[in-house]
Amino acid sequence: MTNNLLQGKRGIITGALDENSLAWKTAIKAHEQGAKFVLTNAPIAMRMGEIKKLAEQTGSEIIPADATNMDELTNLFIKSQEVLGGKIDFVLHAIGMSTNIRKNLAYPELNYDFYNKTIDVSALSLHRMLSVAYKMDAISEWGSVVALSYIAAQRTFSFYTDMAEAKAMLESIVRSYGYHYGKYRKVRVNSVSQSPTKTTAGGGIKGFGDFYDFADLNSPLGNASADACADYCVTLFSDYTKMVTMQNLFHDGGYSYTGITDDLLKAFARE
Ligand code: NAI
Repeated sequence: MTNNLLQGKRGIITGALDENSLAWKTAIKAHEQGAKFVLTNAPIAMRMGEIKKLAEQTGSEIIPADATNMDELTNLFIKSQEVLGGKIDFVLHAIGMSTNIRKNLAYPELNYDFYNKTIDVSALSLHRMLSVAYKMDAISEWGSVVALSYIAAQRTFSFYTDMAEAKAMLESIVRSYGYHYGKYRKVRVNSVSQSPTKTTAGGGIKGFGDFYDFADLNSPLGNASADACADYCVTLFSDYTKMVTMQNLFHDGGYSYTGITDDLLKAFARE
């Protein structure tokens, strides 16, 4: 499905680690829709062999940047504008990491150094990126910034520990910067709250497989796939959603508003 929705648009896409990444799928779709963009990831996390494949496939340059480092983010926005030949029209924030989750620490046992890191990497990084862009006036009028979130920002999910707070903060930054950047340059800022998806970040959560199946059964449309998430992000980067800003948009097959489905009840039936 190519409609040139993003023809002539310049973007920055963070977080493409491997071909399962939500950012990877978004890069492929944005390329199909005519966008030019730069790919970026933390030098330490980047799997060079993998991301190079995506860069070749989409004709993109890779500019490494740790999203917690202001100098590297400044370099990212300067270089991206040079490479792409103008201001940035869209940014995808697809960055998340919790050492507490990786180490399987229960909520009452969280390590606070890890906790701070989770917040810095997974939430403050959006504030940092937007601040760098704002001060440099690097995003064009009506530009669009999308961050990926999860419903644990609103409701408790036992296994999501400190990432729940990170996502709540991320969504708050979306609203606050959506206001300030909207007034300044009519730049839109939104988050997409995605279904559980089998990626490196998602799969790192204990019991993720079972929960993935549970969410699938409890969504009238089933879990939203990574490809569908990428399509949604593309529409948010496009000019067809110009008046949407400061929103947390559920992209979850109806999960967020479903109490219980017949399919889930059947799975628990006693006979
Ligand atoms: P992923 O593991 O493919 O992507 C996470 C990315 O964050 C990786 O590319 C990683 O290198 C990057 N990253 C980590 N630390 C960084 C740093 N300091 N600077 C720059 N980049 C850094 O997994 P996925 O699932 O594609 O994650 C993308 C976003 O989607 C995350 O924010 C995640 O929380 C969110 N999300 C994922 C869901 C899932 O079930 N997979 C559901 C809802 C939201």
